[in-house]
Amino acid sequence: MTIHRIVLISGDGIGPEVAAATARVLGSAEAPVAWEEELAGVAALEAVGEVLPQQTLDAVRRRGIALKGPCTTPVGEGFTSVNVQLRKRLELYVAVRPIRNLPNVSTRYEGVDLVVLRENTEGLYSGIENEITAGVVTSLKVATEHASRRIARWGFQYARDRGRKKITVMHKANIMKLSDGMFLRCARAVREEFGYDDIEYEEMIIDAGCMKLVQDPTRFDVLLLENLYGDVLSDLCAGFVGGLGVVPGANIGNDSAVFEAVHGSAPDIAGKGVANPLALLMSAVMMLNHLADTRGDTRCREVGQRIKRAYNQALSDGQKTRDLGGDLGTEDFASAVIDRLGA
Ligand SMILES: NC(=O)c1ccc[n+]([C@@H]2O[C@H](COP(=O)([O-])OP(=O)(O)OC[C@H]3O[C@@H](n4cnc5c(N)ncnc54)[C@H](O)[C@@H]3O)[C@@H](O)[C@H]2O)c1
Repeated sequence: MTIHRIVLISGDGIGPEVAAATARVLGSAEAPVAWEEELAGVAALEAVGEVLPQQTLDAVRRRGIALKGPCTTPVGEGFTSVNVQLRKRLELYVAVRPIRNLPNVSTRYEGVDLVVLRENTEGLYSGIENEITAGVVTSLKVATEHASRRIARWGFQYARDRGRKKITVMHKANIMKLSDGMFLRCARAVREEFGYDDIEYEEMIIDAGCMKLVQDPTRFDVLLLENLYGDVLSDLCAGFVGGLGVVPGANIGNDSAVFEAVHGSAPDIAGKGVANPLALLMSAVMMLNHLADTRGDTRCREVGQRIKRAYNQALSDGQKTRDLGGDLGTEDFASAVIDRLGA
């Protein structure tokens, strides 16, 4: 029986808490995985003096897959974000963030089922900033045709493979005519060149798009966004379905994939044992599906389905953490899921 070796980066803040809970559920579900723990973020800075050690990068490259908790990036101390570095150095060029309503998690919206696809390697996240003179700063937005076409191609193929019907690109090409203009041109060109006319395509200026999103998120299917817009809209869309505790994600490249929740290290609740582990657990289910898709190991999909049924059942039974209006702690919720793995 194949055991998949997965790099586990627990991260900072609530990271170790939600990672331990997630690993416990996967262990109880007998997921065919073995963890190799590596450091990143403040934990790595304290241990080895850098936020993203070469050893961690090498491990992810070697194993091809990682499950990652959130990492704190110290602000104003000259550190490039760990997450940005990781995504760029491993060429994890697309972030996939499914946003769906969950059972018994009531929000203002029903029937939300959309996916945010975020370009992960460029835009304003190049981190190239200069203070030209005291009080005047420039921040460089980098956009390339290569990356714009690459994510468009990935997005259309994803939509087709998943039976999704429509891609909406949100942009600001009215102002950033060259960069966002190119993003749009590439999406249109890819659709035409590769014959994706079965996927409906629309473009929306992002300010109006945000209004339409909050008016009725159910009219959207796949959102294709450059880096900054994707970052902001991921959290906005998380609000449709119960918040950051319930939105998973995957960062995918041609050679590696890193699965992590959309949320950050939540310093306000870190160490209290109250964080919702569901977003990371859902990310782990995405990871199991990815293993099934890329390595043909159908057991991974079965285990993922079992975990999904169990967390849906736990929620239906009112087993919820505080962010969802319940009173369970991180480990209590993991136990509630484990108790339902046979369901
Ligand atoms: N992928 C990542 O590693 C990642 C992503 C975003 C932010 N960050 C980092 O995280 C740190 C904190 O960022 P922030 O405060 O803006 O965003 P955050 O996502 O950490 O927290 C925002 C709010 O959501 C709540 N929240 C987040 N996750 C939760 C969970 N699982 N259960 C319950 N409540 C949860 C927090 O308590 C907080 O009130 C920063 O250093 C930032 O750079 C890391």
